Amino acid sequence: MLDFHNDEQSLELRAKLVAQLVKSGDLKSPAVERSFLKVPRELFVPKNGVTEELTTIYQNNPLTIKTDGRLGEVISTSSQPSVMASMLQLLEPCEGKKILEIGTGTGYNAALLASLVGSSGKVVSVELDPDLAELARKNLCTLGLDNRTLVITGDGWEGYSEEAPYDGIIVTAQSDDIAPAWFEQLTADGRLILPMYLAPEFQFSTIVGFRRQGVLLKSFNLVQGRFIGLRGYHTVHGPEISRYGILVNLGAATDGEHIVQIESALLPEINLARRADLLSLWLAPGLIATLSEKIPSFFDFANFLRLKKSKDGVCKVIVNPQHAIQNLGRTRIQGVGLVHFEGDQPSLLLLSWPTSAHDETRDSVILYGANPKVLMVRFENIIKEWKDLGYVGLKDLRVTANQGNWTGELGHGSWVLPLRSATLVLDYEVRVGDAV
Ligand SMILES: C[S@@+](CC[C@H](N)C(=O)[O-])C[C@H]1O[C@@H](n2cnc3c(N)ncnc32)[C@H](O)[C@@H]1O
Repeated sequence: MLDFHNDEQSLELRAKLVAQLVKSGDLKSPAVERSFLKVPRELFVPKNGVTEELTTIYQNNPLTIKTDGRLGEVISTSSQPSVMASMLQLLEPCEGKKILEIGTGTGYNAALLASLVGSSGKVVSVELDPDLAELARKNLCTLGLDNRTLVITGDGWEGYSEEAPYDGIIVTAQSDDIAPAWFEQLTADGRLILPMYLAPEFQFSTIVGFRRQGVLLKSFNLVQGRFIGLRGYHTVHGPEISRYGILVNLGAATDGEHIVQIESALLPEINLARRADLLSLWLAPGLIATLSEKIPSFFDFANFLRLKKSKDGVCKVIVNPQHAIQNLGRTRIQGVGLVHFEGDQPSLLLLSWPTSAHDETRDSVILYGANPKVLMVRFENIIKEWKDLGYVGLKDLRVTANQGNWTGELGHGSWVLPLRSATLVLDYEVRVGDAV
């Protein structure tokens, strides 16, 4: 049934993409590999006047499918193949399983899923946009997969109770919450694969692989990745996220991007005037100070700060690089750090992203303001805490999700992230021998 579109060039490009994903380590499962080899991606890219070149279609990139006519915002994409592979591997949709997908788009992932669950399995996929849902139905029918797929036009937040329970639910849009329906429509040990914000104030996104355990969902793996946002009545984006923290804009550059943006969690006391003070700090020259501890992985450390320490005045500084380099002569610009107010006097500590592995400034920070020494001590203590935990990273993070409020006890080192419909409890798994 899946022999459609098997012209030589398409097969060759599919094999090339698969080989690339295997080499990069994104594709490990032979079953998922076979599904990528079988399903032609070109069928799922709408031919609205401009037909994408096959070579473009088979690059490891997301492809824009639909934009909102009014705002020009992208509302549907064909996701990046490496991210799709990671999510399918977390889900493990084998022969005979019943899967619910949220966000059908044009149906490419639904087709991969249908090829993985085989003729004895079933894929139910929910799409908010009626035109896309219709297109997906047609595409799946063209591949002869209509007998094992069911595309529903609707809001995936509600799941699809008529076909529940599901062995797995895979959400292919970014969410800032967990729908009650996703908890309820899973089998007793079903899996939920969900791209979500774990430190919403920083829009820190990751894909969480959850397994149901009783009334809870427990993470078994987390991978990096980001999606376009889930839409619909129950989801809130943009302003809701920055409500968690402060966002300081110095102004907009000519291209509309912000010149300098400082975001921080839980500093609601920072009014506009104080935000301006904070920014003027950054504009003055800072003091370079060397850290007494090295930071072996900037990525893991920045995540530790954002995830675990976000309430301690941690901030993210985003600067328009062109402006910073041309007008201010700065090269060390974006990064993470700490902000602190003593009365009205702000201080700022910035750890900037290293420009390369050999960047000699990578173990130093820039200090601004009246009393940055306080920040230096606090920052070094955080690095030490991270070191004592064995330099934990995303692979060590554990997330437990609970419907509604959390009433259980909190283990040592865990912290709570309340969402609107669920509560997350997070902690880092410290392996024996890792902790100092
Ligand atoms: C990244 S695209 C999905 C890609 C798709 N799975 C594929 O294989 O190409 C996300 C999709 O989610 C849809 N979507 C957004 N909010 C939704 C919701 N609440 N319920 C169902 N679908 C939704 C969008 O219209 C969009 O088509």
